Amino acid sequence: MFNNLLLRHKIIKSMRDFFDSQDFLEIETPILSKSTPEGARDYLVPSRKFNGSFFALPQSPQLYKQLLMVSGFDKYFQIARCFRDEDLRGDRQPEFTQLDLEMSFVEEEDVYSLLEKTMQFVFKNALNEDLKIPFPRITYSKAMEKYKTDKPDTRKETKLKNSFLWVTDFPLFELNDEKEIVPCHHPFTQFNKEDEKKLESKNKKDLLSIRSRSYDLVLNGTELGSGSIRIHNPKTQQKIFDFLGINEKQAKQKFGFLLEAFQYGAPPHGGFAIGLDRLIMILTESNSIREVIAFPKNKNAMGLLEEAPSKVSEKQLDELNIKLKK
Ligand code: AMO
Repeated sequence: MFNNLLLRHKIIKSMRDFFDSQDFLEIETPILSKSTPEGARDYLVPSRKFNGSFFALPQSPQLYKQLLMVSGFDKYFQIARCFRDEDLRGDRQPEFTQLDLEMSFVEEEDVYSLLEKTMQFVFKNALNEDLKIPFPRITYSKAMEKYKTDKPDTRKETKLKNSFLWVTDFPLFELNDEKEIVPCHHPFTQFNKEDEKKLESKNKKDLLSIRSRSYDLVLNGTELGSGSIRIHNPKTQQKIFDFLGINEKQAKQKFGFLLEAFQYGAPPHGGFAIGLDRLIMILTESNSIREVIAFPKNKNAMGLLEEAPSKVSEKQLDELNIKLKK
């Protein structure tokens, strides 16, 4: 455990050194926040000042980093804590850390190249390992055809200990368990211009074949990170919301601040987020993400050490105007 946390420290330090050398600013974004649309359940925090209203802990800094681009911070990064109330697995924790980044005036190639250089720098500085870049690429549809998965383990083919692969051109939409059309990445992702006409189609098959400008970085068969080129035009953004059954009023309520910001002229922008815990889990050859986190939660999302979550006093509940159901 000591060695895992030591490596974690070295990796985070070399990431900060690298992004600093590339003129990125690390900007902290709020933890007491509003529901973000990464697709998982939110952790909620009741407000004492506004009884009945809740903060949501961020599932990622997605909306904030896009706002930072509109504000003119062209290069942002953050070692960011994220919170998602989802069913846990060996590579999932309810709170986890991302290397989160966003850039203005970029296209896919800029993002790929930056991430490749990041990984090369980090591997050299934290592990003294030389990484060959650029990383190979495969489109989502080719990956599904050839490997039947969107995160193939290519170690056998490449004969490498750590084998990176870009998976590109993910679909824009997918079907959820209720067979509803939902964004494959998140609703701020741009679609491929060549497929724009299909957005008018009433046919589900056409809609599901629309390609997006999103991409994943896979390491040894694990999804290490993902990102996309974003929509920066408010009309296009509303078009996608309409599609997802979010009308103008709901969109204003949920993401009004982002749509408003876009009206002042948003630069084209895009970004990425690496799951830091997953990266360290792979590099330490650990079986679980818990092995690389200090004081992790167990499979039931409980902190066994502190015994969290726990009951609170009547007085605390009264201040929040909360009464527990039987
Ligand atoms: P996404 O939701 O794909 O994208 O998350 C990015 C990366 O974060 C890691 N990750 C997790 N790690 C541990 N436990 C979890 N519960 C967990 N959930 C996700 C994964 C994943 O690849 N805002 C977008 C990024 C962007 O578009 O820039 C986002 O969060 O390694």
